[in-house]
Amino acid sequence: MTGRIQLTLIPLGVTMEADRGTSLESLLFRHGVEFPCGGAGECRGCRVRVIEGAVAITSQMRSIFTPIELEQGWRLGCQACAEGPLTLEVAQWETPVLADDSSLEYEPAAGLGIAIDIGTTTIAAQLLDLETGKVQAVETSLNPQIEHGSDVMTRVQFGLANGPRLTELIRTEILRICRALTSRPVCEIILCGNSVMHHLFCGLSVEPFASVPFEPAEGGTKWFTARELGWQLAGDPQVCFMPCLGSFVGSDILAGILATGMFNSSRYQALVDLGTNGELVVGDGNSMLCASTAAGPAFEAGRIRMGMRAATGAISHVSLEDGRLRCHVIGGTTARGICGSGLVDAVAAGLELGAIQASGRMAVDFPLEGGVCLSQRDIRELQLAKAAIAAGFRILTSRKVERTFLAGAFGNYVSIASARRIGLLNEAEPSGNTALAGTKLVLLNRSRRMEFLEDVPARVRHVNLAADPRFQDVFTDCLSFDGLEG
Ligand code: FES
Repeated sequence: MTGRIQLTLIPLGVTMEADRGTSLESLLFRHGVEFPCGGAGECRGCRVRVIEGAVAITSQMRSIFTPIELEQGWRLGCQACAEGPLTLEVAQWETPVLADDSSLEYEPAAGLGIAIDIGTTTIAAQLLDLETGKVQAVETSLNPQIEHGSDVMTRVQFGLANGPRLTELIRTEILRICRALTSRPVCEIILCGNSVMHHLFCGLSVEPFASVPFEPAEGGTKWFTARELGWQLAGDPQVCFMPCLGSFVGSDILAGILATGMFNSSRYQALVDLGTNGELVVGDGNSMLCASTAAGPAFEAGRIRMGMRAATGAISHVSLEDGRLRCHVIGGTTARGICGSGLVDAVAAGLELGAIQASGRMAVDFPLEGGVCLSQRDIRELQLAKAAIAAGFRILTSRKVERTFLAGAFGNYVSIASARRIGLLNEAEPSGNTALAGTKLVLLNRSRRMEFLEDVPARVRHVNLAADPRFQDVFTDCLSFDGLEG
């Protein structure tokens, strides 16, 4: 059979057409996938997972993968052809998913429970023994909705006409994760996520997120039984999606407030989640302000000319030694791009060297390593992202912040010294997956549900930064790379 077929690569968000029968190697190579053993079928480095469609299993694949891996859809990109429409997950772009191993307060109770953090890109889940508070199993995966948009706003655009499809995708994946965690009866499943994930999982329209004032009317706690979701799970557990705090600030941030202890502290503290949609919370346990700010994709190296995810070949850190640049490349290979943490470091180093001015101007492209360099446009993208966060922070804070917690994957990899040098943030502490940790607190402390899901959100007021008359001036002021005091 001849003709054209469609191929989608996640998490790259690439869709292309190709002649039926084309080797996957040639199609993947065009999109930066490397073939470490030269396509000999010996290293697994080119592995892809079939999400939709079919790729025949060869004897080479049988010798490389376990039967379970084959059943999960893993194939060798160098040993296969595209014989029909395909959606493939490319392992070289595996996004690091933060789990959580903090020890938490808990009230002993019988049975098992599951806590899940649904991110726009990744999902992290843990099975807990409610009697001991101990983690029994962990599962992480990519959010399957990613093929319909890599950030929240593109997901909303797709969801306007295809909401039920996105709901089905995420519910199916969460069911798969729960089954992978255990086949034993589960009492409860507690979920957190940003406001759009909340609406999509709960089967609500995402229309409120498509236009001003971006205020959902149904952002509260939602309870289901597994059966109501069409899930057949031992124990028919209750399923709870924690409440949103306002607009784009979701229950992942509420969980962060719980995990960091901000909710019961008298200190004036902040929580920052850096991403395409940056989220901020500032205050003490009695009264907190929260906001979201559209930072754009620069922290994830999106719209950066040589930007890529934190995968093999990405420059992830840049430092200065005796006035010379030193680049750390993931996997120790030749540099083929730069990821978000490397970008922040590189600009900080460029400022130190005088190659980049405080205004962001450069005379020529800033060379890093192996042909990877930063362009004037790249610098502008980072300026926009960091100004959005810094301006939001400045507007929300009314006095000196005593302690800042950094949530989310990017916050755990970025260098704080570089973040300060570019004027993004002052002192801050990488705090792990606070979303998952806070969700576990809710799961493990049944008598405090009312406090965690109602009283604490009532003490957090959402601020619409876009409607604040000061925002544009403060944002413009924050565009420059004037470093912050230590
Ligand atoms: S490139 Fe090594 S197995 Fe495919």
